[in-house]
Amino acid sequence: MPTLSKNEPSTQIEPDAQAEIPDLPGDRSLEDLKHRLVKTYDDKAKHYDTDRAVNDATRYYFANSYRTIESVMDQPRRDSVHVDMPVGTGKFLLHLRQRGYTHRMIGVDIAAGMLGVCADESEESGAELNLSMGDAYRLPLPDNCVDIFTCLRLTHLLPKSTWPQIIAEIRRVLRPGGQLIIEMRNMMRGVTCQMLVSAFRSRRETHPHTFVSPPEASKLFAAWSDVRMQGMGLDGTSTLSRILPPVSKGLHLLEALSPVRYLSKTLLVQARKPKSSC
Ligand SMILES: C[S@@+](CC[C@H](N)C(=O)[O-])C[C@H]1O[C@@H](n2cnc3c(N)ncnc32)[C@H](O)[C@@H]1O
Repeated sequence: MPTLSKNEPSTQIEPDAQAEIPDLPGDRSLEDLKHRLVKTYDDKAKHYDTDRAVNDATRYYFANSYRTIESVMDQPRRDSVHVDMPVGTGKFLLHLRQRGYTHRMIGVDIAAGMLGVCADESEESGAELNLSMGDAYRLPLPDNCVDIFTCLRLTHLLPKSTWPQIIAEIRRVLRPGGQLIIEMRNMMRGVTCQMLVSAFRSRRETHPHTFVSPPEASKLFAAWSDVRMQGMGLDGTSTLSRILPPVSKGLHLLEALSPVRYLSKTLLVQARKPKSSC
């Protein structure tokens, strides 16, 4: 397992990380899925950011989600290590750099194409990030070295039966007391959309969309401490934020504090690796 060097962060993909990710022995169908996902995201990488910022609602969703995640994130020290996996094109880490955060940020992703776009964007904006190619099931990081771990919009792509393996791997690399913030697709809203909107169903053919319910999410983090859960992305809040900003703020509060979270697009779970674990 590589050690974390104390070098100043730089926007480059670690050279040894550019090698092919070896298959894990055992689950052939999982390895096939991973290869399909790498191809999908390598193909999409160059257009990923423009394709997803398709309308006001999507743009609002991302801007609001980054604000929300930032507001619940531990205040990092200068020497804190923050890993974002999958980093994708780096939008969340670049948002934090723009907001003036100077702590060490490491982006991990399985798709070289996404990491390449992330490296270009961070270089262009002068933001320094460490980037590493790696697999959620076998992170390229030593044990107990990470203070903050963000995992945004990954689990819906992968089979639910394998989520405990990913969560155990994140827990391995977190320091005792370290914070995980994970965003997962919310079941009630996801299933309703699949029933009503054909574009949702056709997306399912490219790759699976696996949803989580709040009780399932609670179970996944039963052995963690300080677990909190809130909804993010209630439909209609982007329009309300334009015409009635105070009402949209009120809805965001409800998403954080009430069962309204069951209706939101995603669930944001915060959990801490217990201080007593090693
Ligand atoms: C929906 S994008 C989300 C990217 C970023 N977190 C965001 O919110 O913009 C999913 C990302 O997961 C990455 N990915 C898929 N399977 C992975 C795996 N097994 N390990 C690490 N990254 C993976 C893809 O390459 C892609 O960049």
